[in-house]
Amino acid sequence: MEWMCIPRCKFYRIIATLQIITGIFVVLISVASLHRFYSVGYFLNSDEDTCQKFHTIKDSYADFDLKALNDRVEEVLVQISQLQNKLESTIHKMDKEKKSKTASKNITQSEFKIFLEEEVIQPLYSAHIALRLIRFPNPGAGRAPGSPVEDPLINFFTVEETRKYITGKGNRNGKLSIHGMNKTYNTIGHACVLMRKELEEYMNYEVGSYCRDDWDLAQKLMLGGCDPLPRRRCLARASQLYQRPLPINESLWTMPDNRNVRWSNYQCRDFNCLSSKNPRRGFSKCTGCFELEKEQLKWVTNTSAADFLISDVLAVKPGEIRIGLDISVGTGTFAARMKEWNVTVVSASLNVGAPFSEMIALRGLIPLYTTLTQRLPFFDNTMDLIHTSVFLDGWINLQLLDFILFDWDRVLRPGGLLWVDKFFCNRRDLDDYMYMFQQFRYKKHKWVVSFKSKDEVYLSALLEKPPRSL
Ligand SMILES: *[C@@H]1O[C@H](CO)[C@@H](O)[C@H](O)[C@H]1NC(C)=O
Ligand SMILES: *[C@@H]1O[C@H](CO)[C@@H](O)[C@H](O)[C@H]1NC(C)=O
Ligand SMILES: *[C@@H]1O[C@H](CO)[C@@H](O)[C@H](O)[C@H]1NC(C)=O
Ligand SMILES: *[C@@H]1O[C@H](CO)[C@@H](O)[C@H](O)[C@H]1NC(C)=O
Ligand SMILES: *[C@@H]1O[C@H](CO)[C@@H](O)[C@H](O)[C@H]1NC(C)=O
Repeated sequence: MEWMCIPRCKFYRIIATLQIITGIFVVLISVASLHRFYSVGYFLNSDEDTCQKFHTIKDSYADFDLKALNDRVEEVLVQISQLQNKLESTIHKMDKEKKSKTASKNITQSEFKIFLEEEVIQPLYSAHIALRLIRFPNPGAGRAPGSPVEDPLINFFTVEETRKYITGKGNRNGKLSIHGMNKTYNTIGHACVLMRKELEEYMNYEVGSYCRDDWDLAQKLMLGGCDPLPRRRCLARASQLYQRPLPINESLWTMPDNRNVRWSNYQCRDFNCLSSKNPRRGFSKCTGCFELEKEQLKWVTNTSAADFLISDVLAVKPGEIRIGLDISVGTGTFAARMKEWNVTVVSASLNVGAPFSEMIALRGLIPLYTTLTQRLPFFDNTMDLIHTSVFLDGWINLQLLDFILFDWDRVLRPGGLLWVDKFFCNRRDLDDYMYMFQQFRYKKHKWVVSFKSKDEVYLSALLEKPPRSL
């Protein structure tokens, strides 16, 4: 019996010690958090003094994220109390088993070790780290007046990589950067705060190793407003057998090689499966856009009054249209056609249900992986053309559309063309949307409203931004 007691007695001793440690831990946290906030002067007697010190608190902690701090401490307290419960219930179980001798199980050294590692040390460690992570401001110590006391959101996120990312990075040797700045802030979209769990999962990786194949998580975050998404320091995976892309005279109108796409997060596993005939292709907009024989008819053959021909559009401004932006759901066919007219078009796209970005790039065109949430990364008055189809339609909130259209207007140069290609909406909403497009007082080269179905209408328009020399 003697040898069997060794691990078990040790176990009891360790558990008792741990309980004491956790107890001390709780006391420490409470004292620490109280101390930090009240020691500065709250307990002082003199009225004047209190008042003065109180101002110090207010100034020093003005930008401090008290709620995040509170959440972090709360989290640690929960972790510690869970650990305590677990330890207590383990002891309880062991006592019960000792009484009913039959069911008694001897705990081996290695079992004991595993228990300690997984059930005790890990939770204790994460509680410890969570406490360490709390970054307190340094009241009054060498801070420029008016500068924030902590990096924004730093106490909200707990995964170290996220925190490193959003911490402002001062330049080395106090020199100014190439852009004339002291400090660089990596930015994230503020709605990242709403998706903390997903963002922390996304940022939880080993620096320098291969990333998980989780672009779909990244896109989900971006679509949720966590955009710009933080950069990561891990290596993106590629398809296993990347084939040399086709030369440009062939790539524009040839279906790409299946092997050049990582298919794991799509419903389909090859390009054939993305055909409009397949009801389980995984996406619903631009149904036939992975069939190039159908795509080849677009913008070059007369089909309906709402379909303008590229030749007609370019004839409005002969030789003037050289660069443009296509904001559509599709595989880059518009850019491919325009390329044949020596017009460079960037295709904004997201991979909603199918590898749109990969397809556009494999055709030899530029996919701009962007959501609706961001200001366009182009300077004012630079683009000759903005084309949009299958993208903005009757779902869009009018105020959101307003912000988007004003941004398009900013980017379009005077004399540039806005081609609204078969925008569709419910008949009764048409007036609202027409107002949206008309508010800029662009010159109307073409303006066609036609029926899509009994209740829905198409609006196609070719508009020219007027000069604005103010
Ligand atoms: C526990 O150890 C005792 C003493 O060596 C032994 O008699 C007993 O069979 C062991 N019980 C189990 C469940 O391994
Ligand atoms: C850089 O930092 C110094 C000192 O903190 C400050 O005086 C200066 O205005 C800063 N320059 C810029 C461009 O922010
Ligand atoms: C594409 O261009 C290459 C040379 O640049 C030529 O060898 C090839 O035949 C062309 N392919 C087609 C289909 O025209
Ligand atoms: C397209 O239709 C217009 C009239 O709607 C006609 O003038 C034009 O010739 C047609 N173009 C082609 C290529 O069929
Ligand atoms: C495009 O540019 C090439 C080379 O400069 C020229 O040969 C061709 O005619 C141009 N195409 C059009 C449609 O202007």
